[in-house]
Amino acid sequence: METSLVLVKPDGVQRGRIGTILSRFEAKGLQIVGLKMMKPSREHLEKHYAVHKERPFFESLLAFMSSGPVVAIAVRGEGAIAVVRNLVGATDGAAAAPGTIRGDYGMSKSFNLIHASDGADTAAFEMDLWFGDDTLDWDLDELRWVNDPDA
Ligand code: CMP
Repeated sequence: METSLVLVKPDGVQRGRIGTILSRFEAKGLQIVGLKMMKPSREHLEKHYAVHKERPFFESLLAFMSSGPVVAIAVRGEGAIAVVRNLVGATDGAAAAPGTIRGDYGMSKSFNLIHASDGADTAAFEMDLWFGDDTLDWDLDELRWVNDPDA
């Protein structure tokens, strides 16, 4: 089982896509084990986006991400990190494949609605940063109809 950190960014919140995005993960057969709305501080975002510190868009990215509420979602499932990334689509909404979240709702790199962990190490770091111990282990009954029984 893997847990991925997903953020509905301020544009996704302002455009009324919280429910749509959550329902994509639920419909896929992934489990929501953490959910919170927050307005992240600059310090928090500097940690989250530390890997992009030298990029030219770093300051505008932090300004955008701290401009309004975001929704943090902890998404769990078999191979969840890659599954979520596939559902999210390419960074640039204009180029992202139709059927992906960014491909269906986004038109740019700056306002691409959603963030998702890009690997196991990143997911562990981001889950700790955004949720700490604040997730819930619970039984999702439908999983017996979702995952391979012998996996
Ligand atoms: P995200 O998955 O949150 O990770 C880093 C973010 O930087 C990315 O989504 C985009 O929102 C943003 N980003 C990446 N490339 C660019 C770019 N060229 N211009 C502006 N923002 C970018």
